[in-house]
Amino acid sequence: MSAVITGTGVAVPPNVVTNDDLARIMDTSDEWIRSRTGVVSRRFVDPGTATSDLAAEAALAALSDAGLHGGDVDAVVCATMTPDHQNPGIAGAVQHKAGLGTAAVFDLRQQCAGFLFGLDLADMLISTGRAATVVVVGAEVHAGYLPWGDAWEIVLGRSDRAPTAEERVRATRHRAWSVLFGDGAAAAVLQARAGRHGILGSVLRTDGAHADLIEVPGLGSRHRPYADAAQIAAGLHHPTMNGAGLYRMAVETMPAAVREALAAAGCGLDELDLVVAHQANDRILEGARRRLGVDAAAMPSNIAHWGNTTAATLPILYHELRRQGRVGPGSLVAFTSFGAGAHWGAVLYREPGTDEAA
Ligand SMILES: CC(C)(COP(=O)(O)OP(=O)(O)OC[C@H]1O[C@@H](n2cnc3c(N)ncnc32)[C@H](O)[C@@H]1OP(=O)(O)O)[C@@H](O)C(=O)NCCC(=O)NCCS
Repeated sequence: MSAVITGTGVAVPPNVVTNDDLARIMDTSDEWIRSRTGVVSRRFVDPGTATSDLAAEAALAALSDAGLHGGDVDAVVCATMTPDHQNPGIAGAVQHKAGLGTAAVFDLRQQCAGFLFGLDLADMLISTGRAATVVVVGAEVHAGYLPWGDAWEIVLGRSDRAPTAEERVRATRHRAWSVLFGDGAAAAVLQARAGRHGILGSVLRTDGAHADLIEVPGLGSRHRPYADAAQIAAGLHHPTMNGAGLYRMAVETMPAAVREALAAAGCGLDELDLVVAHQANDRILEGARRRLGVDAAAMPSNIAHWGNTTAATLPILYHELRRQGRVGPGSLVAFTSFGAGAHWGAVLYREPGTDEAA
């Protein structure tokens, strides 16, 4: 049996934050962010909305798109780097909130590559006959770990006050990574179908030696106690990022993984219709695209309006492309991503033909 995507859905939060909004609380500019990353605006949830809330909404939308109900789901795979709590993971909450019965759940921790690894897990469950219907969700609420404190009310346009000197210094100290991210969620329903379509193959790689390219150094078993005021005061709950190192590794690994997946499936680069690549920033996309050797139209970007939504970028983009009619019967699509860990890879996917879709 092959794993075929039969439905997709998104859940995006209401609060749009532009680069100019960020420039109100830190030393940055629309020009700097746009030219370095491609991001024009991103969205954030209101306080009180957790990752599992967005994830459950996206899962329900994807099920509705597939014409299914909660009771039809055998397994739920959730990828996030911003879970509701330290533990448990969000998959159980998503299952419960979306009414997915007692389906088996899996929580994945591959950050920006989480949805990619989730597609492969769904394929394994379906191709081995362990499940007939799997929901894979990528979801993030980054808002809680952005270092803006009370200045959030300025960012969201709910206060006209100027930031304090301390707020501006702190936001500026974290500007290199904080301007990249946005909240969002999306899901795909994968179902067992006979035929040579659906997921054709996957290449998944991890090199733990590069885990420090982007990591959150505090809050974990490395520390005793695992969370305390000293870690917060030292800012260890915020990520540290080697932006140049990430760029170099991402632009090499994603094209290599796509080529390897194509070769393993006996497909040529010229047969690829779309590359659905992680939306970390437009310069990475462009570097990866040139190394892979595909046209700009074949490797779309939507980072301008969402920012980097980590595990949610692939399914949000794929959902948009389906809605725009860019994924047609028989389309050959390569999903590819690179994430903190470091994890990367590619999943090759063939949309069923018109006579095979049922
Ligand atoms: C983060 C990234 C955009 C930074 O771009 P860059 O051109 O490499 O910029 P640098 O880090 O060299 O910083 C250049 C200058 O811009 C400043 N700068 C950093 N962020 C800024 C911001 N938001 N606004 C204005 N200036 C900023 C730096 O402080 C530095 O100033 P200095 O020269 O006075 O020290 C780039 O490295 C990148 O895209 N890396 C990949 C990161 C990524 O995708 N992360 C997501 C993880 S999966």
